[in-house]
This record gives sequence, structure tokens and C-alpha cells, in this order.
Amino acid sequence: MAVSETAHPPAADLGSLEFWGRPAEERDRYFAWLRREAPISRHQPPEDILGLPDQGRMNYWAIVRYDDVRGISRAPQTFCSAQGTQFADAPPEFLEASLSFLAMDAPRHTKLRGLVSSAFTPRQVARIEEGIRVNARRIVEEAAPSGGGDFVELIAKRLPLVTISDMIGVPHADRDRVVAAADLLVTTSDPEAFGERAPIEVLGEALWTLTEFATELAAHRERNPGEDLMTALVQAEVDGDRLTHAEIAAFFVLLSVAGNDTTRHTTSHAMRALSTNPAQRRLLAEDLDGRLPVAVEEFVRWATPVLTFRRTTTREVEIHGEQLPPGEKVVLFYHSANRDEQVFADPWRFDVTRDPNRHVGFGGGGPHYCLGASLARTQLRSIFGELLRLLPDLEAHEPELLRSAFIHGVKRMDCSFRARA
Ligand code: HEM
Repeated sequence: MAVSETAHPPAADLGSLEFWGRPAEERDRYFAWLRREAPISRHQPPEDILGLPDQGRMNYWAIVRYDDVRGISRAPQTFCSAQGTQFADAPPEFLEASLSFLAMDAPRHTKLRGLVSSAFTPRQVARIEEGIRVNARRIVEEAAPSGGGDFVELIAKRLPLVTISDMIGVPHADRDRVVAAADLLVTTSDPEAFGERAPIEVLGEALWTLTEFATELAAHRERNPGEDLMTALVQAEVDGDRLTHAEIAAFFVLLSVAGNDTTRHTTSHAMRALSTNPAQRRLLAEDLDGRLPVAVEEFVRWATPVLTFRRTTTREVEIHGEQLPPGEKVVLFYHSANRDEQVFADPWRFDVTRDPNRHVGFGGGGPHYCLGASLARTQLRSIFGELLRLLPDLEAHEPELLRSAFIHGVKRMDCSFRARA
């Protein structure tokens, strides 16, 4: 039976981390039921592993249909971001230090996003495309003699790391430690990330590493300007004022996290999907240059690496007959929207020729639509272009998934291919 045909609500608790540890196909049995029977539903606050005080933790509304995710994303005056964008609660000082303009509304959001947006336009990304392609080729060539290993370390992680580090201007020697800390910010819901330690302690330490590093890099760029985003940030003025060190550090954290994890996990999920759908892979390989731009959209829809963001109502609003007062938490479930059978024919079919494919993997539109969408698409075209040309026999095996209600992540995934010199 197709996952969307289940007649009764499967037992599930959307707010529990156990639920988010299950494979996406299994989770979608519940979402499919919600999409059909309860397009808006109210839930208890999500599970808290950080040990936050109970007061202030609120119930939330789950938004699961495609049209609603788009509608809410495009109505920022009714559904604002400045009162938080994360599904799981976190200490306010943590949010302030890490989310930057993601958790702001106009006019401040418009101004701060504007400071870096010129580096991410399709035209500007086209200018750096050749460099991205060269890096992608080098990464695949360096992996070729190994004959396999962990796909995440060998391939998926590397292109986003080098791309965003180059853009921000992170020195080579610091890149691995910056990415490791950026990873921790979005993986602390997984027991592997915190081990024996308290999750809040691991989170605080990672944030401190990034903030301290960003502050040092900013000071360096003030004295030695370069051609990178950090230089642009230390020289920028908003309403006649320079950004504070804390604001620059939050910018840095946002770009480091957003620029790394999402593209990496899309690469891993897509590689796995190509391995388990050999006919689709053959189809793509037959006309790689012609079919990749369309296929990349299916990679992002399929992976949906960002699972959730939230908004808060600013005024009374009605959704599917429910009257929401101001101040209510509304959570957008992107993966569910990307499996909405009213929009995507046979949504659980991985189809590299799906066109049109107006997925909400990069968000539902509106002012917070992913700033890095062009950059991500370019990286995905480059890495898969090289992978499918140079290692056509690469097989990705069962992935180990991250337990997270925020990032649909692959922690490790064995892969194998014939070793080449
Ligand atoms: C496949 C890769 C990626 C996916 C699926 C993805 C997804 C998303 C999503 C869902 C949002 C929120 C949209 C909304 O609230 O309406 C977002 C925002 C954002 N993304 Fe991406 N992203 C990806 C790659 C990147 C890259 C490479 C960068 C580069 C730095 C980036 C930077 C950002 C930034 C800065 C924001 C905040 C925008 C704002 O609040 O105005 N993303 N992304």
C-alpha cells in the first residue's frame, strides 16, 4: 500500500525525538494522514533535551500541506520570524548569537540580508561556477583511488565546506574545526553528538568556538581587507552604524551552518536515491548536462534537508476553520509539503525528470526564501556531474540518519566503487 493510503492515524508523536529518528518514509505515514484529515493540528511543545525552564514553552500548530506552507511563508506580516524560527525551543541568548537575519522581520531583515545578498545572486554565482566545478572535480578525483568508504567524509561534506569557506574567507587551517562546530549546532538532538555530556554544554561550547573565531577573523579583516564576505561585513553600515561584533558573529554562524549542512545532506540523500533507483540513474547519465538542472530540483525535493521552521502569528487569523490568536507558534513541515499528493504526482517516486517541480525545499517563498538556493543548485550540478562521469559505478549503501526535527541529515553512508588511479 502506498504510504499516503493509510486509513487511520498511525500512532505518532510529532514532538518526540523518537519520531524524528524514524526513516522519512515511515514518518510520512503520519504526515499523509494529517495532510488528508487534519491540515492544521495543535500539539504539545516538542521534547526538550536542553533542560529549559517550563514557562514560555508553548504548544504549536502543525502546518503540513504544500499550499499552506507557501501561503504562510509569503505572509510575513501575519506570520513573523522575529519571535523565533526554530521548532525546538532553545535559550534566547543562543538564538540571538546564531540566527542573525533568519530570525528578524522587515525592515531590519531586509537591511541585513541586503548586506550579503549580492554575493548569492544567480549572476554572481555564475561567476564562481567554474571554480566550484574545478573543486568538485578535484574532490571526486581525490576519492577515486580509495574504492569507497564513508560517502559523507569522502564526497558530500567537502564541496560545501570549501565553497562557503572561500566565500566568507575562512583560512584553510581553520576550516575543519569551524565546520565541526557548525555541525554541532544542528546535531545536538542526536545522542551521538553529546555522548556523556549535557547537550546544552556541547551546544554552548560549539557556539563559543564559532563566535570567538568570527570575532578574530573580523578583527583581522578590519586591518587587512580582502575580497570576501567577512570584509564586506566589517565595512558595512546599516542606518549609518557599523555592525557590532556580536552581529557579525551571528552572521558568520548563520552562513556557516546554512551553507554547509543542507547541501551536504542533499548530496548524500540524492546519491542513495540514485543507487536504489538504477533506471533513474541511467536516464540521467544518458544526458547528464541536459538533465541535471531538472534532476537537481528532484534531489532537493527528495532530500528536503531542512525539515522545519516556524513562525509566530502577529494577529488573529483563521486556518482551515481554526481561529488562531496572536502569539501562536506555527510550524512549517517542509518534508510533508514536498510529499503533498495534491501537488506532486506519486510523491514517493524519485523521478529525475519531474517537471514542473515547485518544491518548497528552499522554503515556501517570501522574504526568507533561501539565500543560497543558486549556490546550492550550482554545487549539486557540479558534484553530480563529476560523480556520475568519473565514478559511474559508485553505489551508496544504507545511510545512518541523524535524529533531528530540524535537519534531515545523513551521519554516515558507506559507498563502494572500483578504485581508479
Ligand atoms: C540544498 C541546499 C539548501 C537548502 C535545502 C536550503 C533550505 C533553506 C530553507 C528551507 C530556508 C528557510 C526559508 C524560509 O524560511 O522561507 C533557508 C534559508 C536560508 N538559507 Fe538555505 N538552503 C540550502 C543551501 C544554502 C546555502 C548553500 C546557503 C549559503 C550560505 C544558504 C543560506 C541560507 C540563508 C542565509 C538563509 C536565511 C534567509 C533569510 O532568512 O532571509 N542556504 N534555506
